Amino acid sequence: MTRLVITALGLSLAFCGGEKRAQELQLFEKSAFDKIVDGKNISLYTLHNKNGMTVQLTNYGARIVDLWVPSKDGKFKDVVMGFETIDAYLKANDIYNGPVVGRYGNRIGKGNFTLNGVKYQLTINDGENHLHGGTGGFGQMIWDVVSAAENEIKMRYISPDGEEGYPGNLELEVNYTLTENNELVIRYLAKTDAPTVINPTSHSYFNLHGINSSSTNSHILTIYADKYTPTDKNLIPTGEISSIENTPLDFRRATPIGDRINFSFEALVSGRGYDHNWILMKNGGSGEIELAAEVYEPSTGIVLKVLTDQPAIQFYSGNFMTGNDVGKRGNINNYRTGIALETQNYPDAPNHANFPSAILNPGETYSQTCIYKFELKK
Ligand code: GLA
Repeated sequence: MTRLVITALGLSLAFCGGEKRAQELQLFEKSAFDKIVDGKNISLYTLHNKNGMTVQLTNYGARIVDLWVPSKDGKFKDVVMGFETIDAYLKANDIYNGPVVGRYGNRIGKGNFTLNGVKYQLTINDGENHLHGGTGGFGQMIWDVVSAAENEIKMRYISPDGEEGYPGNLELEVNYTLTENNELVIRYLAKTDAPTVINPTSHSYFNLHGINSSSTNSHILTIYADKYTPTDKNLIPTGEISSIENTPLDFRRATPIGDRINFSFEALVSGRGYDHNWILMKNGGSGEIELAAEVYEPSTGIVLKVLTDQPAIQFYSGNFMTGNDVGKRGNINNYRTGIALETQNYPDAPNHANFPSAILNPGETYSQTCIYKFELKK
């Protein structure tokens, strides 16, 4: 196994102002990710802050590989699912462990939409629909690393006109910054040379137990939303906007994920659990970055706050995890052992005039900020 064990002493000197911490981070070595594919270099990059919080990323899919945060026992836990080597990522059954997905994250019904009178057909990769940018979405691409520093990395991907069926050459930059407040700030900036649609999002599977195959049903979740977009049985929005009042989708009060997940509520039956788009109360209208969701795991004390300037968030409760992938440190991706919290525009927005526009025109700049902030409740 290729991993680098950094001991408490080494870390405490480097990151913790001399304070000794009885913990170790099992970081991966760069050599486990160094590979040339189609003439492009893939590698591994490590960000850390003075508190010892550490994130490793690869430019294969602009992807988060591990994310070490403090837990209440004084140790650090890695709270995202993933693999130990680039070869394992390239072979994985589930390709959505940690990447930036796009050009359009989430689903587009029948994989088509009409823009300025022209109908575009995208790759179909989820039943009869298009999911997360298609089979060759941004999460499968090798990004250029523009700059890399101790607490920040910037990557760029240029998506050619026609890729997966999308119009326009699109240039997307993603910037990850790790702050001294234990926030991983993800900023997206994009421009295009022809009208197109865009909705990139970050797709980590979080497990605040630390990655150890424990169910995420014990996580206590709050979502600052009072409406959602109902879907058909293939999770394509019908176009309606409904209240979550008196439904198991109401997370305005902190509630364990597992409490209502198996209720025979129609939306939960279609999603086989939670896999829905919540419309945030402020609905992106102000362009301000606001709190969208909060997750707390009592056994580790780890709190994850998700902040965004986007109008919505997809909460997916790991209902399609099959146990077929064996990840880091032998972790099996069993049913409901990871959750995704994807800040975004609404799914299928290009096909619904009443949803926020997902169109990007030449001369405009697309921007999005998502913050994953970690805290401790003791
Ligand atoms: C998203 C979708 C889910 C599932 C996962 C990937 O979160 O909403 O339905 O496809 O990605 O497994």
